[in-house]
Amino acid sequence: MPPTRKKPRQRSIQWFGRQDIYGFIYRSWVKNRGVPNDQFDGRPVIGICNTWSELTPCNTHFRVLAEHVRNGILEAGGFPLEFPVMSLGETLLRPTAMLYRNLASMDAEESIRGNPLDGVVLLGGCDKTTPSILMGAASVDLPTIFVSGGPMLSGKYRGQDIGSGTNVWSMSEDLRAGRISIEEFHEAESCMHRSHGHCMTMGTASTMASMVEALGVALPGNAAYPAVDARRNVLARTAGRRIVEMVRENLVLSRILTRPAFENAIRANAAIGGSTNAVIHLIAIARRIGVDLTLDDWDRVGDGVPTLVNLMPSGKYLMEDFCYAGGLPAVLRELGENGRLHKDSLTVNGKTMWENVHEARCWNRDVIHSFRSPFKKNTGIKVLRGNLCPDGAIIKPSAATPQLLKHRGRAVVFENIEDFHRRIDDPKLDIDESCVMVLKNCGPKGYPGMAEVGNMPLPPKLLKKGVTDMVRISDARMSGTAYGTVVLHISPEAAAGGALALVENGDMVDLDVAKRRLELLVDEKELKARKAKWRAPRPPLERGYWRLYFDHVLQAHEGADLDFLVGKSGSFVPRDNH
Ligand code: FES
Repeated sequence: MPPTRKKPRQRSIQWFGRQDIYGFIYRSWVKNRGVPNDQFDGRPVIGICNTWSELTPCNTHFRVLAEHVRNGILEAGGFPLEFPVMSLGETLLRPTAMLYRNLASMDAEESIRGNPLDGVVLLGGCDKTTPSILMGAASVDLPTIFVSGGPMLSGKYRGQDIGSGTNVWSMSEDLRAGRISIEEFHEAESCMHRSHGHCMTMGTASTMASMVEALGVALPGNAAYPAVDARRNVLARTAGRRIVEMVRENLVLSRILTRPAFENAIRANAAIGGSTNAVIHLIAIARRIGVDLTLDDWDRVGDGVPTLVNLMPSGKYLMEDFCYAGGLPAVLRELGENGRLHKDSLTVNGKTMWENVHEARCWNRDVIHSFRSPFKKNTGIKVLRGNLCPDGAIIKPSAATPQLLKHRGRAVVFENIEDFHRRIDDPKLDIDESCVMVLKNCGPKGYPGMAEVGNMPLPPKLLKKGVTDMVRISDARMSGTAYGTVVLHISPEAAAGGALALVENGDMVDLDVAKRRLELLVDEKELKARKAKWRAPRPPLERGYWRLYFDHVLQAHEGADLDFLVGKSGSFVPRDNH
């Protein structure tokens, strides 16, 4: 049992414990669905923060998951109150779900603080639903447990496993190169996503589910149990029981989300070959809770950690295989046995990280490799600097072609994603495999929302020649399910006047990942002349959230949060509402 801090008066008592007109108002309306009087006796009131939505296909089983959480809360003597927050579906929401991550975080933060809650269980699954609600909860800092929705079962197509996203990209290239028919393409659509759950590759959703487990804010096993596995429901029910105890122990989120916890997550990300999106999300979450995590921490802390997990997009297996091989606890044990884990980090079950994982077993060494025989050596996330990215850019070497990690090539520039789509299929496009594809205006302000378009598809004429990878650079993000020698998150972005805005066709670009360099080989005087002609873009919309976002979004290296959302306001009880 962890030591407890002095326990403040439970928040919910300031609503439900009142013996005046306000207490009447706070209790009476809740009773309208049959809640008995004894539920207002001072027991912990637990919010179940649900990102269920039919517009978020990865989260459509969350009503069932929430019922399991509710049962656990009741069993432990708590009073559950479920509430919806904005849900962000990666596949349907335009122009990109990332534009709304910060908005959803505000929804979660204000919903938690403004209501009579003593603790909260967060239900997230699809990519942005995890960081958004965790960012919001961090700014309130109540006792909090995260329960992920779990990955889908493996895709099965013509006797082969196919993975979300990863095989969409490869089959799309096959279609464009004429290697498969449109009928085969359609058939694969029905075979890829065949159960509830989120993407079952080590994409952003699986990565973030692993991150919350590595941070200690989710229970052991959270990352890998498939959405339809009964153990997922048991985990949800256990989380419901545990959150009630956490309120009694006053085990608030800031005691879990410490710097060592973030360092554990960074190393876990390297070991699982996790998504580049985790970089932005973890920096944003850390800055909410008061940990000054930087881009350089990613390179420094993750350096020397090999990729252990052989999952798409870096490898060949899928999350179901990862689960059966032992899941994240087996990976964390490897990190711990090799001096790469802060073992004393506290987790939501009240135990240290090491207490949770020191006996975890690996059942398949082809899926989860050991440090002694890693899947890929020293990979992780590498942070690049240079005149093209003075505030940083990132690359994921485990998903890249090793020979291209040191490369000099002629720039072929696309001013925005529409320009790219207009020209990429043109057989007359002046490009060969030695060129560097440069995409501008896809960063936080430029898109807006920093879309996942950095893994630009290759020109069909090169695909037909058998070219499978080229160096691509942009201020965009990349889907966690994607792969290639792709430099992302260039900061400052083009739309904020970064040097990326000044790149022209024919310029030489020099990439040297070992030296952590990305340079535009154009002399300073010429760049100054180009900058003098550059004009800042107008906001994409003059009003509403898009305008607020454009005016306040921070650059990628600061987590792309809104400037006024960084930090926390805590769990103070606002004044009465009548
Ligand atoms: Fe929802 Fe991939 S689309 S997790």
